[in-house]
Amino acid sequence: MPNLGYIATTLAFVLAIYAAVVAVVGARRRSPELVASARNAALAVTGLVTIAVIIIEYLLITGHYQTKYVYEVSNRAAPIFYRITALWGGQDGSLLFWSWLMSIFATAVLLRKWGPMRILMPYVMVVTQVTLAFFLGLVVFVANPFEQLSFFPADGAGLNPLLRHWGMIIHPPVLYLGFVGFVIPYAFAIAALTTRQTGDLWIRTTRRWSLIAWMFLSLGLLLGAWWAYDVLGWGGYWGWDPVENASLVPWLIATPFLHSVIMQENRGVLKRWNMALIMMTFVMVIWGTFTTRSGVISSVHSFAQSAIGPLFFGFIAIMFTLSFVLYVWRWDDLKSDNELDSFVSREAVFLLNNLLFTGLAFIVWWGSNFPLFSEALMDEKIVVGPPFFEKTTAPLWAAILILMGIAPLVPWRKASLRRIGNSLFWPAMGGMVVMILLYTIGGIKIIGAVLGFGFCVFTLTATLIEYWRGASARHRSHGESYPVALAKLIARNRRRYGGYLIHIAIILIALGVVGSRFYQVEAQRNLAIGERMTIHSDVVGTYEITYHGLRDGPSPDDRFITEALLTVTYNGKPAGELIPTREFFVVQQQPMTIPDKRSTLADDLYVILAGWEGSGETATFKAYINPLVNWLWIGGLVLMLGTLVAAWPDPQERTRRVTHSAKIPGGAVPAK
Ligand code: HEM
Repeated sequence: MPNLGYIATTLAFVLAIYAAVVAVVGARRRSPELVASARNAALAVTGLVTIAVIIIEYLLITGHYQTKYVYEVSNRAAPIFYRITALWGGQDGSLLFWSWLMSIFATAVLLRKWGPMRILMPYVMVVTQVTLAFFLGLVVFVANPFEQLSFFPADGAGLNPLLRHWGMIIHPPVLYLGFVGFVIPYAFAIAALTTRQTGDLWIRTTRRWSLIAWMFLSLGLLLGAWWAYDVLGWGGYWGWDPVENASLVPWLIATPFLHSVIMQENRGVLKRWNMALIMMTFVMVIWGTFTTRSGVISSVHSFAQSAIGPLFFGFIAIMFTLSFVLYVWRWDDLKSDNELDSFVSREAVFLLNNLLFTGLAFIVWWGSNFPLFSEALMDEKIVVGPPFFEKTTAPLWAAILILMGIAPLVPWRKASLRRIGNSLFWPAMGGMVVMILLYTIGGIKIIGAVLGFGFCVFTLTATLIEYWRGASARHRSHGESYPVALAKLIARNRRRYGGYLIHIAIILIALGVVGSRFYQVEAQRNLAIGERMTIHSDVVGTYEITYHGLRDGPSPDDRFITEALLTVTYNGKPAGELIPTREFFVVQQQPMTIPDKRSTLADDLYVILAGWEGSGETATFKAYINPLVNWLWIGGLVLMLGTLVAAWPDPQERTRRVTHSAKIPGGAVPAK
C-alpha cells in the first residue's frame, strides 16, 4: 500500500508538469486538442492525489507503524478521529493534504463552463499545475509521507498533544482552504496578463473564489486564536507569533484586494494595484506556508522544523520574479480607464483603505521576519515582541475602523463635504455620547479603550443607518413592512449589504479585542482545600474561587488527567463550578494545562491549574478576567454569514457578466 501511495503521488507530480507544459504549448499553437489533453492530465492529477490521500488515511487508521509518518503522528491509543485528522498533524501529511485541496480547487475551476474564460483557461492551468507540481515535488522528494522505517514498531509515537483539540483539528484545513483558494484568483490574474485581457473579466469571474477563500482565511485565523485561547493556557488568544502573523499577512493584503476590485469593476481604475495585490497575496500565501512548515523562525509552532526551507524560498523567488516581469511587461495594458475625479469620493476613501491595509501588512511581515533578517545581516536573532506590533498597528487599525463607517456614506466620483458631514452627524454623536458616558459613569478611564469603543459605536451607527435608509426607502416605495423591506434589501443587494454585515462582524471582533486587551485582569494564588481567592475587575465585578481538592479524571487513551474542583461566586452570588485540568501524555512525557471558563457575553472567567503539592492538599491557580472576549467568536460567525450573503449567486450579476463578456474579442482556444 505505501508503495502504491508513493507511485500515485509521483505520477501526479509528473502529470502536473505535463499539464502545465502542454497547456502553454496548446495555447501558443491554438490547439484545442493539446489544451484538452492538458485538462485531462490536470483532472487525472486530482484523481491520483485523492488515491494517495485515501492510502495514507488507510495506513493511519489501520496503524501501519512501519510507515514513518504514521509512526510519528499516531498511536494505538489515539481515537479514530485523531488518526484520520493526523493527516495534517505533521509536515509530510500536511503537504500532501495541501496538494490535495489545491488539486480539488484546480479541478473545480476546470469543470466549470469555460465560456468567455476559455482564452484564459490554459494559463490558469499552467499556474495551478505548476504550484501543484511544486508541492507534489516536495512530497515526492523531501517530505514523503509513505517512507518506510527499517524496523517494525509495535506502536506509534502519537500526535503532538497540543494538536489534540478540535480547534486544532479544523483550524489547519480551514486555513489551508483559505491559502489554496487564493491561488485561483492569482492564476486568473496571471492568465489575464499573459493574454492581455486585463479588463475586469478576470475579476468578475474570480470574485466569488476570492471571497470564499477570504472567508476561510478569516475563519482559519479566528479558529487558531480560539485554539490558542482554549489550549495554551496563557489567558490570551493572539501572541503575534510568527506563524500566526504568517497567516495574517495574506489576509491583510487580500482584504484591500476585495475592496479595490470594486473600483476596477465600477470605474475601471486601480488595475495595477489589483494585480499587485493579488500577486502579493499569492506570494504571502506561499511565504506563510513556508514559515509554518520550515520552522525558520522559532515559535510555539516550530514542531514543523525541516529542511524544505530553501526549496520554498526558491519557489517563492521564482514565482515572484516571473510575476513581476510579466507585470512590468504589461504595465501599459494596466493603465486606468478613468482618472480620480476628486479626493472627496468613494474612490479616494478606497485608496486610503488600500494604503492602510498594505501598511499594516508590511509592518506585520517586517516585524515577524525581523529575526530572519537580523540573523542574516548581523548574525544575531533579534525577536520583535507583541508591544512592537501593538504600538505600530493600533493607529492603523483605528483608522480602518473609522474609515469603514465613513466609506458607505461617500458617493462615487465626487462628493460634497457638507453632505458627508450631514450623514456623519448621528454616527459621530453616537460615538461621542458613548465615549463621554464610558469615561464619566462607566469607569472606563483608559483613553485607548474609550476611543476604541467610541470608534466601534461610530461605525456601527453609520452601518446600521445604511440598512435603515435602504429598508425605509423600500417601505415607502413598495409599501413593504420593515422586516420584509430589510430582507428584500439585502437579498437584492447581496454584495453591498453582505459587505456591511462583514463590517459589523469586524466591529464585534474589535469590541472583543479592545475589552480583553485593555481590561484583562490576572491573579495567581496558592490555595489549601477550602480556601478561596478573589479576582476583581473594575469594569466586570468580583469573582471568588473556592478550591475543593483534586481528583483523577477519566483517562480514555494515553493520558492521565487530574481535575481541580472549584466553585465560583460572582459579586457574592453562586456562579457554578469550574474544573481546570492538567493532562499528562504518557508517550510524549508531556504535560498540558487545559483551562476551564465561565463564559458570558460580558466576560470570561478563565482559570488554570498551574501546579499542586502532594496529592492536592494545596494547589496553585492562575485566573484571568477577559472582558468582552466572546464577541470575537460571535464576530466570526457573523463574518461567515456576511460573506455567504455577499458571495451568494446573484442572477443580475450573471446578466451583467454576460453583457460585459460579449464585448470581449472571442477566445482563441475552444477547448470545451
Ligand atoms: C478589517 C476591515 C474590513 C473588512 C474585513 C472588510 C471586508 C469587506 C468585504 C469582505 C466586503 C464584501 C466585498 C464583496 O462582496 O466583494 C466589503 C464591502 C465593502 N467594504 Fe469593507 N472591509 C473592511 C474595511 C473597510 C474599509 C476601511 C472600508 C473603507 C473604504 C470599507 C468599505 C467597504 C464598502 C464600501 C463595501 C461595499 C462595497 C459595495 O458597495 O459593493 N471596508 N468589506
